[in-house]
Amino acid sequence: MVENIKWHSGEINKVAREQLLGQQGIVLWFTGLSGSGKSTIAVEVEKRLYRKGKAVYRLDGDNLRFGLNKDLGFTAPDRVENIRRIGEVAALFADAGLITLASFISPYQAGREAAKKAVGSDNFKEIYIKADLKTCAQRDPKGLYQKAKKGEIKNFTGLSAPYEEPENPDLIVDTQKLSLEDSVDLVLDLI
Ligand SMILES: Nc1ncnc2c1ncn2[C@@H]1O[C@H](COP(=O)(O)OP(=O)(O)OP(=O)(O)O)[C@@H](O)[C@H]1O
Ligand SMILES: [Mg+2]
Repeated sequence: MVENIKWHSGEINKVAREQLLGQQGIVLWFTGLSGSGKSTIAVEVEKRLYRKGKAVYRLDGDNLRFGLNKDLGFTAPDRVENIRRIGEVAALFADAGLITLASFISPYQAGREAAKKAVGSDNFKEIYIKADLKTCAQRDPKGLYQKAKKGEIKNFTGLSAPYEEPENPDLIVDTQKLSLEDSVDLVLDLI
């Protein structure tokens, strides 16, 4: 609980930082099954925005588990805490004026909603990177589905842990139907 702690405002706020950077600080939150294409699309979106002179930063599930979240596993409570921290970090990045690309399975609707609340709904776009389980398991870019099917990974989303589809996402990118380039274009059209 927050006790004896008072928010200390500075004189330079989000609007001022955005003016300096010439952009709006926002979070594009990519959710979807493992192998649906979140990281692949985020990497391309990042490149395209960077080339246009935008200040952009990518937060990626795997990467954050090397540091900030290395104490967390994949049980339901750990996943909740994983996304809670990331939601807070994404909120800070957006407040800094950056275009923040967050790619996390983020399987629970409640977790994504909490992230949206932390960031502020005006600055948050929920993007559902959609591919069915069969397709993701066939792609298996990291060999994780193979391992999960052999029982070597517990709590694997889609197989032994749930994935709650977004109810009302800002955008659905169907990576079974779209090429990578068209997927990236769709995301860029949103902002
Ligand atoms: N339209 C598309 N957009 C993105 N990726 C695609 C598309 N079509 C096929 N792919 C392929 O799907 C795979 C997606 O893998 P990627 O690592 O991006 O998934 P991810 O959603 O980040 O998974 P994880 O949650 O495990 O990090 C890659 O092998 C990529 O080449
Ligand atoms: Mg990824």
